[in-house]
Amino acid sequence: MGGVTTGSAAVDSRSIQAAYDVIRPHLRVTPVLELDRTDFGLAAGRLVLKLEQLQHAGSFKTRGAFANLLLRRLPPAGVVAASGGNHGVAVAYAAMRLGVRAKVFVPTVSSPAKIQRIREYGADLVVDGERYADALAASEAWAAREGAASVHAFDGLETLLGQGTLGLELARQAPDLDTLLVPVGGGGLIGGLAAWYAGAVRVVGVEPEAAPTLFRALEAGRPVDAEAGGIAADSLAPRRVGTLMFPIAARTSSAWRSSPTLPSAARSRPSGIEPAWWPSPARWPPSPRCSRARTCRRPTSAWVSSSAAATAPPSSSVEPAPPAPPRAHGTIPPNRGGRA
Ligand SMILES: Cc1ncc(COP(=O)(O)O)c(C=O)c1O
Repeated sequence: MGGVTTGSAAVDSRSIQAAYDVIRPHLRVTPVLELDRTDFGLAAGRLVLKLEQLQHAGSFKTRGAFANLLLRRLPPAGVVAASGGNHGVAVAYAAMRLGVRAKVFVPTVSSPAKIQRIREYGADLVVDGERYADALAASEAWAAREGAASVHAFDGLETLLGQGTLGLELARQAPDLDTLLVPVGGGGLIGGLAAWYAGAVRVVGVEPEAAPTLFRALEAGRPVDAEAGGIAADSLAPRRVGTLMFPIAARTSSAWRSSPTLPSAARSRPSGIEPAWWPSPARWPPSPRCSRARTCRRPTSAWVSSSAAATAPPSSSVEPAPPAPPRAHGTIPPNRGGRA
């Protein structure tokens, strides 16, 4: 399984490395934590956690946000993003650091802590609509009207490149990895990681039962609408996975499409992205369903811990505004003004 080509641009280890070279000064190299899987009642082996919740602004989304703001030519109107929360926080943070105008649309279901952070980072905030899809529609209308650059949460080339840089770091920190468990919403994170690893490790997508976007897409052979509910509703529940990540996921999905159930499909697929349902966030690890799908049995696995908990941070833990933000492309004045 390799990367994906979109027009003239490719998402592969080379382009991800090139993106990393640009965004690295703005990122933390988040640490990994190595555990023994027997701690969780699993067969002996190593379990590596990539603690991406310690990334600036609290999630891996910061990687994609900086990639968008630094790799694209931005218009004077700045950027606009729709988000369930974490992507909005990340775009607001990156925009603050780079002195770019940012407008962020979030649905009413977003957590108050994330809404507060977006405000504190100085973005124009609009809270509107019940779900992510509503915020996305509003942001696209605004982008068309105002000429701002839309920064997609998961279905953008630079977003995939940025998220893929997590794989680049992890490959250095845990070089002998053979299985990678990745949370999936719209698939930007798993798409970037799968493009980086290009089949060198087994990549397993983990989804809540009530928001099976990758599951449904692989079943249908294309991105299709799925339910968007459950624990994911406030942060990672778009209706469907992105069109850019899907070719990466689909490359080895023939056995999956013809199989009626997840565990047998997972057993029959030797490599590539596999979707797994995630019964409850409190049960990681082990998950009986995960074990049945043989997603947790390899000697060395890694789990991408993708964001900080959605609880209100004490104000001292919110990143302070930088004294003198470095400049981005163009001459876009920082937006500290009126909020929606
Ligand atoms: C904490 C967290 N984990 C995982 C995801 C899923 O990321 P993606 O949409 O790139 O699949 C999201 C998306 O918002 C998220 O906020």
